[in-house]
Amino acid sequence: DVPVITIDGPTASGKGTLADEVGKALGFGVLDSGALYRVTGLAARRAGLNLDDGAAVAAIVPTLDLSFREGHVYLGTEDVSARLRAEATGLLASQVAVHPAVRQALHQLQLNFRQLPGLVADGRDMGTSIFPDADLKIFLTASAATRAERRYKQLISKGVSANIESLREDLEARDERDKNRSTSPLAPAQDAQLLDNSALTIEASVAQVLDWWQT
Ligand code: CDP
Repeated sequence: DVPVITIDGPTASGKGTLADEVGKALGFGVLDSGALYRVTGLAARRAGLNLDDGAAVAAIVPTLDLSFREGHVYLGTEDVSARLRAEATGLLASQVAVHPAVRQALHQLQLNFRQLPGLVADGRDMGTSIFPDADLKIFLTASAATRAERRYKQLISKGVSANIESLREDLEARDERDKNRSTSPLAPAQDAQLLDNSALTIEASVAQVLDWWQT
């Protein structure tokens, strides 16, 4: 059996960083499931689809020529990594993610990431829906203010101008949509460890997860 650690939680809670660091420490692969929703949103928008049409958006998933190499995501030969991380793409992702048909279309793709020696899976429903038998489940949270501030610093450091108030509004809107959708709403798995990292350094969060993993 291939071991799996799931890390779920709201936007900008630091799941990606935590997943990467834990993956590195254990030599496990990492699944950034949000990237799959982002690439689906991006491709749907480029195809001119109505993002409210779940069946139409789901239908393009099997046609996507996706590949993952060295932390980069390719659509055909195009490296879309930077475009995927844009806030606007996050919004597209959360719009397409409400559709059960889209979630279904991405299900098997996510299971395929479960390979030896192990996997750290980052998302919203990794522990509840995709890997319910995971060996360790984390639900990572941080206050909205902390998350807005982190996202702000991240953007500024990349030379992107940002407004902390609108970032906070944006992430709260995204949280609401994720929590209120009918399929796989954002919520901790019953057997998840809750980790609030508002006041924790990345190192301390990683150490906590590794500690849970070893015990
Ligand atoms: O970390 P951040 O929320 O900015 O981005 P993400 O994890 O890449 O997720 C982008 C959007 O995809 C989220 O707002 C969710 O609506 C959706 N998503 C999802 O529904 N299920 C997942 N397993 C991962 C992402």
